[in-house]
Amino acid sequence: MSLPPGFLDELRNRVPISRVIGPRVVWDQHKSNQARGDWWAPCPFHQEKTASFHCDDQKGFYYCFGCQAKGDALTFLRELDGLDFIEAVKVLAADAGMEVPEPDPRARERQDRRAELADVTEAANRWFRLQLQTAGASAARDYLARRGLDAQTLERFQIGFAPNSRTALTQALRDKGMDEALIVAAGMSAKPDDGRAAYDRFRDRIIFPIRDGRDRIIGFGGRAMAADARAKYLNSPETPLFDKGRNLYHIGPARTAVAKGAPLLVAEGYMDVIALVRAGFEGAVAPLGTAITEDQLRLMWRVSPEPVIMLDGDAAGQRAALRLVDLALPMTAPGQALRFATMPVGQDPDDLIASEGAGAMAAIIAGARPLVDLLWQRETEGRVFDSPERKAALDHALRKAIAVIPDEATRAHYAAEIRDKRAQLFGAARKDRGGPSDRGQRGGGGGWQPRAKPGSEPARAQTRASVFVSRDAGAGILEGEVLLRCALHPEMIELVESRLERLQPTDPDRAALLHDLLAGASSEAGARALENLKADAHLGLVAAMTGQDDPQKSEAILSQLFDRLDARRAERSELTRAEAEIAGEADEGLTWRVTQITRARQRAEHPEMEDSTDLGENRDELSAQLADFVAGEIWRKNRK
Ligand code: UTP
Ligand code: MN
Repeated sequence: MSLPPGFLDELRNRVPISRVIGPRVVWDQHKSNQARGDWWAPCPFHQEKTASFHCDDQKGFYYCFGCQAKGDALTFLRELDGLDFIEAVKVLAADAGMEVPEPDPRARERQDRRAELADVTEAANRWFRLQLQTAGASAARDYLARRGLDAQTLERFQIGFAPNSRTALTQALRDKGMDEALIVAAGMSAKPDDGRAAYDRFRDRIIFPIRDGRDRIIGFGGRAMAADARAKYLNSPETPLFDKGRNLYHIGPARTAVAKGAPLLVAEGYMDVIALVRAGFEGAVAPLGTAITEDQLRLMWRVSPEPVIMLDGDAAGQRAALRLVDLALPMTAPGQALRFATMPVGQDPDDLIASEGAGAMAAIIAGARPLVDLLWQRETEGRVFDSPERKAALDHALRKAIAVIPDEATRAHYAAEIRDKRAQLFGAARKDRGGPSDRGQRGGGGGWQPRAKPGSEPARAQTRASVFVSRDAGAGILEGEVLLRCALHPEMIELVESRLERLQPTDPDRAALLHDLLAGASSEAGARALENLKADAHLGLVAAMTGQDDPQKSEAILSQLFDRLDARRAERSELTRAEAEIAGEADEGLTWRVTQITRARQRAEHPEMEDSTDLGENRDELSAQLADFVAGEIWRKNRK
């Protein structure tokens, strides 16, 4: 939604941030200086006894020196209470005595539609819960009791029951005056194509309501009672409310628990979450019957910097973990890590807690291993590296894997970590054969890192990386044009959605804008990014022209922009690799390689893009950068 200019500033100015935060913390009277609007308290976002949380009325900002939580009054309401942007604005506006203007009609329509659908799911949930009390549900109640779910748990998770009937729920909802079409749209009934009456989707199933971060019921999971049911679990279909890839079961309560210091645990199923919570692990969530998606990773990271993924010990669980490694690596960054806790083979968290108790579960969580370990395991397990070729193949594979990590410092630390593991592995192999020990040869041959004294590498890798990879202004402009075009032509978004989802803006405002575009939402940061894009000298032209494009042309331009971004991305990973190699050994091959990279990019810059705006990229910039670097490297060598 678009708020009038200056509205948010006015809002922030009217309410001192300490008034928003005050009720949620205990100010440290000694450390705070009330008169100056300078406040300190134990942080509400993580567990601590000391007051590392600082809040500054002058600036309207808070910052925690312990967990780095930061933001303004709106951020605070959103992060701590799970409010969305507009809800936070409303809370603050009420406090300030300001009226929030009505949202734009399109956003409002969507919101109204979701509210209508949520009325249906809420009504269905009440009905399912009533059904669990009826005589027809005695088998279901017995089953739940056998699985250890007491009354309190049934209440807390609002578990219900769908009787074995084709029409009972549909009828009950219609009796409440709800339209059949709406009931179908909410995913509660299915309508056959041949025009026959709609029938209940969930039959003879235990029902788990699924709520979003705002506590709205967006869908249901249903576990079959019959052993021979078609699917053990059936979930609501995708609806305007229920986006399986963007939600997690139990995310709301888990967020609260994590804010109080609990780890965020990601299990596979509803029953696992319930068992974990009952065992005291309240920060448990689960995906909704599908593999974990990028959006779900982002959601997890908004809640915790290091979610723990609980893996089945079996082969399928391991495979899922390895897929997740590939999904997560390009997204890892400070504050965006993962750990993996492996369950004993054949047991899920629910089984383990039932058989061994909460202590056994705690031990497994404590033993969770970082992502880098899984990556290493994937590339090395069950293989023998007894030849230079095999070692080189391993180096190549690992280098390729970490090249996708966008954050330079993180990538450097991965490289360092892997170099250590590599030294250990190859060192041990050598010792086995009675050869010379690995001492003094760390990092040699693999080309992982600069040849320098151990201990000094990570810092150097960092500075080195910045020479190459960080300055990609051209990609920033391309990305900006994509975002701007999509914002101005929202009808295009659906056509390019999957490519749009792969964008990874490093600028947080742009990231917010991207999220808004994909979610059909609007946020303050996103609006800010859009304003900046429109104000940009190059892109302003796009904004002015884009209204005149016909849709086909718009789509073609967008798709070309994405092609160019892909070429950039490929180039960046090439560069990162080259960087790793140079770091090990600067050789003559480098100059050749640099030329190749630059040529490859020039090929990707299609001449037919002339009809788009001139992006003002400096094609020579890269070569110049690289040339500088090479010169610097030679200088460094000479000095030695
Ligand atoms: P599991 O088969 O591991 O079930 O599926 P579970 O959680 O251990 O359930 P119980 O203990 O047998 O009752 C894990 C998750 O995978 C999804 C569901 O979300 C389930 O919670 N799933 C599983 C489906 O969506 N459909 C299925 O047919 C099976
Ligand atoms: Mn189970």
